[in-house]
Amino acid sequence: MALLIDAYLTPFFPEHESLFDEAAVVMIDVLRASTTVATALKNGAKELIPTDSLEKAVKIYSSLSKEVRFLGGERHGVKPSGFDAGNSPFEYTEDSIKGKSVILTTSNGTRIFQKAKNSEHRIVGAFVNLNAVLSYLDNYYFNSGDNHKVIFLCAGNNGRLSYEDMLCAGAFISNIVSKVNDVTISDPAATAMNLYELHSENLVAYLKSRDHAIILNNLGFADDIDFCFTLDVCPVVPLCSMASIKAFDEQNLN
Ligand code: MLT
Repeated sequence: MALLIDAYLTPFFPEHESLFDEAAVVMIDVLRASTTVATALKNGAKELIPTDSLEKAVKIYSSLSKEVRFLGGERHGVKPSGFDAGNSPFEYTEDSIKGKSVILTTSNGTRIFQKAKNSEHRIVGAFVNLNAVLSYLDNYYFNSGDNHKVIFLCAGNNGRLSYEDMLCAGAFISNIVSKVNDVTISDPAATAMNLYELHSENLVAYLKSRDHAIILNNLGFADDIDFCFTLDVCPVVPLCSMASIKAFDEQNLN
């Protein structure tokens, strides 16, 4: 098969209509929205509903019945007042969210999860579900047809590049490139891959020294950072549809 790998390392780019046609899109916000989504689905949330504003989130929450709703997110890293939870993956325990619709609004991640609406495979990726996402691509995307395109979208921070998102994209790309012969990669994808490979021996320590980890550490979220940088602790594949993000379930394939 022939494969093209592309990456958008920051969230603002001209999004022409056919950009994502036929492509699988992996959306990454390692600290912390992607990790929180994967954790909530692993712990049994029915779905996550990503929204870009506090107002929209509250409106959707108010329209659902008490037993099945959970409102989470952050602004400037902390829980907005009146919310059930912030954006720490540790707040999305089985006890608090099992079977519920989680309405999530975060500063950067939940915006990126609403992109690429015309792609058939819109996947939320992070270090915590890296191999689960790679297996999904192998089994449900690369397995049919001859030409494939995988596009990585990095959430970044306030429109700027975030090292942890870029290196997570790089980890995915490095892995795929090592297994596929006929692969073409764009300059941003090559940058992410090369920088991941440069730092891979000392990845966690390096990422902990970067901007977003420092901000979260200063807010008291050191445990979140460790969790978000741990490989494969949430082996689920969050798939975005028009309205929500649900865990891929092999049993429900028709
Ligand atoms: C975001 O979407 O900007 C984040 O996930 C921020 C955070 O929780 O640190």
